[in-house]
Amino acid sequence: MFAISGGSTKLSDFGEILHPEQASEPILAKAVRSALLEWLTEIWAAEDLLAVDLKPRKRALFHGAPGTGKTTLAHHLAARLGLPLLLVRPERIQAQYMGASAQAIGRLFDAVRAAPEPIFLFFDEFDSLAATRLTGASTAALDHNHTINTLLANFDAFDGFVVAATNMGSGLDPAIWRRFEIQIELALPGDHERQRIIERYMAPFVLPKASLAALSRAMETASPALMRSFAENIKRQIVVGPKAGWVMNRDAVISRVIETVKPHPDLGLPRLWSVGVADHAVSQFPWPLEKDIAAYPAERAPVAGGEIVPLNRRGS
Ligand SMILES: Nc1ncnc2c1ncn2[C@@H]1O[C@H](COP(=O)(O)OP(=O)(O)OP(=O)(O)O)[C@@H](O)[C@H]1O
Ligand SMILES: [Mg+2]
Repeated sequence: MFAISGGSTKLSDFGEILHPEQASEPILAKAVRSALLEWLTEIWAAEDLLAVDLKPRKRALFHGAPGTGKTTLAHHLAARLGLPLLLVRPERIQAQYMGASAQAIGRLFDAVRAAPEPIFLFFDEFDSLAATRLTGASTAALDHNHTINTLLANFDAFDGFVVAATNMGSGLDPAIWRRFEIQIELALPGDHERQRIIERYMAPFVLPKASLAALSRAMETASPALMRSFAENIKRQIVVGPKAGWVMNRDAVISRVIETVKPHPDLGLPRLWSVGVADHAVSQFPWPLEKDIAAYPAERAPVAGGEIVPLNRRGS
């Protein structure tokens, strides 16, 4: 790893630096995977594009609800390009006194240009920094409009990659919005992605396919972040619970997890959180969890309501 500094201002003054080797590949819906692949293909074809007087597009907006993977995707993309990512936090730019935010933007781009290698710029919560310019001559309006103009000028002069994340996309200044040549929406994951996300974060434990499918259905409208917390909290309880003397039967563990891990208030409440341990997905959840699918009993497992559902021994 290397230290990145640019002139007197350090890049880390503006946010965190995420290195390529720390990135993990997100589980993406088909539409997002295609959009990403199209962009990468274009970037890799830079020389051929130059032959027809074009450059690859370098600025993208990622829209999506909280926890849908905007930061994860940007980090993954930067890693595929072999670049460190600077995660710029709006609070590191925004300042109380007149002209200070615009100055901070200038210093940020100076530091990026002075860095010893190219930096992939990622603006988190971009709506709060780049809201539509204000009318009127109030100090607040003049200051905000100056910030936006400075941002526009720096975007135009900057030749590197810039991704900005927004929760809604509306409310961005139209001229800023036009600077972004690519728009990628990170929708909530569909059933297939939910199953893969649960599978990934439950590892090294494995779930029979029927249980995975039931859990995924009970988690409709869950963000990847919520699913990750759910799975990781179950694993944490499996390790810590017995040492701490907690009741460790399935319903007790799952109900503690549902209590601890809360869905984001802006997203709908997934069924598992409204129904709780009475949910069909809980009676389908194997207990104790195993790391080898063959370790689960092959016999048919009774579930709530007397219905009989076969557990898939192979789990594929
Ligand atoms: N598509 C995905 N596949 C696997 N894991 C994911 C995916 N999306 C998000 N995660 C996990 O969920 C967590 C939150 O993701 P991330 O921070 O990227 O979301 P975000 O959209 O940037 O959220 P915010 O709006 O709060 O900034 C991370 O721990 C990440 O590993
Ligand atoms: Mg984020």
